[in-house]
Amino acid sequence: MTKFRRLTAVAALLGSVCASNAYAEGTVEVLHWWTSGGEAKAVGELKSAFESQGGMWIDSPIAGGGGDAAMTALRARVVAGNPPTAVQLKGPGIQEWATEGALNDVQAVAAAENWDSVLPPVLAEIMKYDGNYVAAPVNIHRVDWIWASPVALEKAGISEMPTTWAEFNAAAEKLEAAGLVALAHGGQPWQDATVFEDVVLGVGGPDFYRKALVELDADALTSDTMVAAFDQLRILRGFVDDGFSGRDWNLATSMVIRGEAGFQIMGDWAKGEFLAAGLVPGKDFYCIPTPGDGFVMNSDSFTFFKVAGDENLKGQQVLASLIMSPGFQKTFNLAKGSIPARTDVPLDDFDDCAKRSHEDLLKATEAGALVPSMAHEMAIPRSVRGEILDVVTTFFNSDMSSKDATAALAAAIQRAM
Ligand code: BGC
Repeated sequence: MTKFRRLTAVAALLGSVCASNAYAEGTVEVLHWWTSGGEAKAVGELKSAFESQGGMWIDSPIAGGGGDAAMTALRARVVAGNPPTAVQLKGPGIQEWATEGALNDVQAVAAAENWDSVLPPVLAEIMKYDGNYVAAPVNIHRVDWIWASPVALEKAGISEMPTTWAEFNAAAEKLEAAGLVALAHGGQPWQDATVFEDVVLGVGGPDFYRKALVELDADALTSDTMVAAFDQLRILRGFVDDGFSGRDWNLATSMVIRGEAGFQIMGDWAKGEFLAAGLVPGKDFYCIPTPGDGFVMNSDSFTFFKVAGDENLKGQQVLASLIMSPGFQKTFNLAKGSIPARTDVPLDDFDDCAKRSHEDLLKATEAGALVPSMAHEMAIPRSVRGEILDVVTTFFNSDMSSKDATAALAAAIQRAM
């Protein structure tokens, strides 16, 4: 071989190596907070689906349930001029980032695949900015659930799941009398707020919830109904064990899984933990909505930040299309504990908790009883949510009276507005 031929052969070889390093279906760096057992399994489904289409996935998990730590990390990345390509983001947060001009839209994909025809209109609106899709939803989580251990309930002589707060309180007392933890809980602001909003819905009903936690109406915030909601939260605080402070939500779920605790009040991402531990719903664990009418909605979605480079742009388009594909929506949600965001995915292979969630979602939508989660960033700006979380957590960790809590809530919200 002449020297020239050898050089051409090397160049050809290098060319093919480089070509195989460029991913035909793009690259995504994905920032998310899915790090518990069930969550990791679910996001693993997205990663392998993306990779099997020939894309390169760079994983950027930020531990911390509820996403508060992830949102801080995101802000730092954007300020540094180095945003991730895809970010788990929700509700008004999507609009806030879009208003800052930080997001790319995926309208071409959404229009070609007609997302408008397969998403509930209320969810589609949240995903759009200026009429264009800037986010793709993966699921619908329900926040107002009670999870229970049949073993613990049996030990305490409880034969029925509670359907009113009075029944819940009575059952919790029996669990304590049997030497068990009545309510598994992790003392972190977002977990306190999760329980709080479920109680507000249960005590006040959907219209009251909307007035207080979505419209931030001063009369509702300082009403006797709000005082009654704090009273119930105070009772629930009494059912929590001493070690609750700072505990992660999935460790609280483990207490129910092991039968050490009777109940946990948490969204249906908790079901992902029971399933990942191999437990069967209706047999090894129970689910029932928290007392009262309505449905507290939380939906996870991915947004696409402004990044340069064809490979990254391609990655965003491919990921958006993949997220919305019916097959992915099914596999992902079977692992995550939620139900698909798309309305046309059959639920035959889903369990009874998921089927109940779907039925109640339809009923609540019809009855005007569907409310967005405040705790999970579906309802109000992050800054105002932060003020509410501060008051709720302070109440949970002190002997503040319910009346003082309502006054503090109204004052805090006024400051934030
Ligand atoms: C998210 C869920 C997540 C949970 C706990 C919620 O805000 O919507 O997807 O599993 O936080 O981390």
